[in-house]
Amino acid sequence: MAKRIVVASGKGGVGKTTLAVALSLALARRGKKVLLVDFDDLRSADLLVGVADRVVYDWGDVIRGDCAPMDAVLNAGAISLLPCPTDYGSATPRQIRTMMRSYEKEFDVLFFDSPAGVGAGFALACAAAKQGIVVALADPASVRGACRAAREMEDLGVRSSRLILNRAVKRDIKKRLMLNIDDAIDRSEVQLLGVVPEDRSLRYAAMKTFLFDSTAPAYVPIFNIARRLEGENIPLAFN
Ligand SMILES: Nc1ncnc2c1ncn2[C@@H]1O[C@H](COP(=O)(O)OP(=O)(O)O)[C@@H](O)[C@H]1O
Ligand SMILES: [Mg+2]
Repeated sequence: MAKRIVVASGKGGVGKTTLAVALSLALARRGKKVLLVDFDDLRSADLLVGVADRVVYDWGDVIRGDCAPMDAVLNAGAISLLPCPTDYGSATPRQIRTMMRSYEKEFDVLFFDSPAGVGAGFALACAAAKQGIVVALADPASVRGACRAAREMEDLGVRSSRLILNRAVKRDIKKRLMLNIDDAIDRSEVQLLGVVPEDRSLRYAAMKTFLFDSTAPAYVPIFNIARRLEGENIPLAFN
């Protein structure tokens, strides 16, 4: 049975798509066959993985029966991408669940990249998910937004969600300008999955094809998160 993981947040621009791509690549390097499904109708995953000029079909076409499920999937190097339509139209959670059954047979992991907030796209992104990741920056408002998203996820049937704090800066944590791990755990009812540092190579990833380089500061933290997703017990550390 494929893992089905939705990546969501309360606030926008916190790094959902970046982390969904990076975690997909990390799991692919660990031998998994990964499909990243874009549920953000503003569409950015195709740009990040460098296939924007090859997009022909999207999951809206699959739901309508205008193409076969695998015809809409693009090969993006180590991973595969299923693009989002620019309009959700009349797509329903039930249609999404039915569609995902075809992909579950082909892939080990399905990542669902949600738009920000808890609207229509979020509900569709959660429809077929079993596990949730909520992403926040290391500040109280962002963590509160992520917790709200996690509660909404649970109402939509996503039973286990965990939090990633993204773009953390040690110097700012020391100065108490950002939350540290203990603060985040205290403020959040969601279990912490990992902390990812601010990383220039991720900041500018959208300007070139996403190459996840092993010297990047976020590389080991993201691989550790991938290992935790696979059930390994890797201690949390970022102080
Ligand atoms: N760990 C990081 N370090 C530096 N920049 C990051 C990091 N994660 C994401 N970013 C940058 O933050 C911005 C928003 O990321 P994105 O993944 O598009 O967010 P979202 O999908 O939540 O809207 C992008 O410019 C991205 O490159
Ligand atoms: Mg995004």
